[in-house]
Amino acid sequence: MSFFEGKLNTLEDLFAEQLKDLYSAETQLVKALPMMAQEARDPRLRQAFETHLQETQNQVARLEQIGRGLNVDLGGHTCKAMQGLVAEGKETLSENATDEVKDAALIAASQRIEHYEISGYGTARHFAERLGHTEAASLLSQTLQEEQLTDTKLNDLAKGYINQRAM
Ligand SMILES: [Fe+2]
Ligand SMILES: [Fe+2]
Repeated sequence: MSFFEGKLNTLEDLFAEQLKDLYSAETQLVKALPMMAQEARDPRLRQAFETHLQETQNQVARLEQIGRGLNVDLGGHTCKAMQGLVAEGKETLSENATDEVKDAALIAASQRIEHYEISGYGTARHFAERLGHTEAASLLSQTLQEEQLTDTKLNDLAKGYINQRAM
């Protein structure tokens, strides 16, 4: 039995749809993060993107584990919001910015992405808890925490010296 047959009748269906959306978002990020790391000029910023790429690969694996456990096929859906967030980030980078401004722009784009993910995982985790999917809730919590820590790290870099240097 599949939880999601194209119709949203229950919270369970909506949960499955949210998982598919997150899966699409994360797989897009696995492709985008190497480019962001490559574009970063500050070594700590580059390291932050590289670390988050590894985490993001784990996050994809966690979603796959949840999908297997709940018999939800995660494929066949495109997260248009993440497409837009990545496209906007690329657009900014294609403008003629100095290295310092580029680093600030990369953080601006990636914090939008992290906030989008934090929102999505917060909702999905609550749905999982409400539906009694304990293992899924715990896996979603782990990812949510990684997204929050990444956002904090980016915030610290921006406020610590990267924005100042871009002035
Ligand atoms: Fe993520
Ligand atoms: Fe993230």
